[in-house]
Amino acid sequence: MNGPADSPFAPTRLGPLSLRNRLIRTACFEGLTPSGLPSDQLVEHHRLMAEGGVGMTTVAYCSVARDGLTFEHQMHARAEIAPGLKRLTDAVHPAGAAACLQLGHAGYFASPSAAGTRPLGASPMMCTYTLTRCRAASEQDLERLTADFVAAARLAVQECGFDAVELHMGHGYLLSQFLSPYTNRRKDRFGGDLEGRLRFPLQVARAVREAIGADRAVIAKINLSDGFAKGLDVAEAIEVARALEAAGLDGLVLSGGFVSKTPFYMLRGDLPVAEMVRNEPKLLRRTGLRLFGRMFVPRHDYEDLFFLDEARRVKDAVGIPVSLLGGVRTLAQIEQAVSEGFGFVSMGRPLIHMPDLPRRMQAGELTASPCEPCNRCVAEMEAGGIRCTHPELGSGPARSS
Ligand SMILES: Cc1cc2nc3c(=O)[nH]c(=O)nc-3n(C[C@H](O)[C@H](O)[C@H](O)COP(=O)(O)O)c2cc1C
Repeated sequence: MNGPADSPFAPTRLGPLSLRNRLIRTACFEGLTPSGLPSDQLVEHHRLMAEGGVGMTTVAYCSVARDGLTFEHQMHARAEIAPGLKRLTDAVHPAGAAACLQLGHAGYFASPSAAGTRPLGASPMMCTYTLTRCRAASEQDLERLTADFVAAARLAVQECGFDAVELHMGHGYLLSQFLSPYTNRRKDRFGGDLEGRLRFPLQVARAVREAIGADRAVIAKINLSDGFAKGLDVAEAIEVARALEAAGLDGLVLSGGFVSKTPFYMLRGDLPVAEMVRNEPKLLRRTGLRLFGRMFVPRHDYEDLFFLDEARRVKDAVGIPVSLLGGVRTLAQIEQAVSEGFGFVSMGRPLIHMPDLPRRMQAGELTASPCEPCNRCVAEMEAGGIRCTHPELGSGPARSS
């Protein structure tokens, strides 16, 4: 994959890594870890991404500890997941792509049944998503969680063969709950002004950076904005990005929204309520979704490049590569982003729809993704694994089960 130096298809660096191009498959929870273990379908999903031409593919949400799970069928970092993930990276590498594992902790919106305990968060708070009131993490919890992030990152690179780990600091997950003034109301040194709210995420970032060695990349996914009043805004996101650069991170992926309050801020467009109701296994949640789904899930209209303006401001404030995410659909948009100085372009739905979109774009077969962002792939997470429900339009794999 060669091209002019500022071509999206030219080789580039992500910290210590050499990637064949600037395209990243972003983390999208695949729902392909039955019993919390990587399945053959998960391996195949990412092998197809690698064959399809991305420079790096990101395996979604691996919780660093059991108490950070949001679904029963989700991975948490432990020795049992290593053989399956090693098979995954062994399948991705020969196809020319690097592999990244997203590490996070759901904090206050962890599922009590999956987590096996009462959720913890930055501050005690009722979560309308799980209908549970979390307890505040103690300083002892924060030490344990920092060690969990370090152990998970070590497992990812040393046992599973990942080239990079992505710390999930956005979307209202635990580290994002510490950054957000909405969820972090602590009076101790881990709360208050942005310096205090940054303390725990920075502690994690530094510890992971130090632990996994200089030959692997550590990146973070952060919010440009939480997407509601009194949440984190782009002015603070700029400071978060600068602090993470100073902490030694190799790159940033920019997103937005809070799963527990504004879940479609990160996606925009239609809410697949009917599909979500059909696929929700829990009766209470199914009924709640049916009755109140549209009321509780604010709608945000879809437009291409929906984070571009805010992302430009963060990109201009840091020197490490920044990836543009959110509604990237066309080759012209990808080229524009790279020419403006975005180090990478990340995509989710267009690659679920058509894993070989990069290869087809580079070959001149296509100039735009045919994905209509209907968001029905989101409902599929609970129904046997993500897939495009319009496979006739794309080249995504049909689900075998
Ligand atoms: C089915 C699905 C699952 C997702 N799961 C995750 C996830 O586990 N972690 C994450 O950071 N973002 C997740 N996202 C959000 C995407 O990473 C991305 O921010 C969003 O899809 C917007 O990018 P796009 O317009 O290229 O699809 C998910 C998105 C989809 C469609």
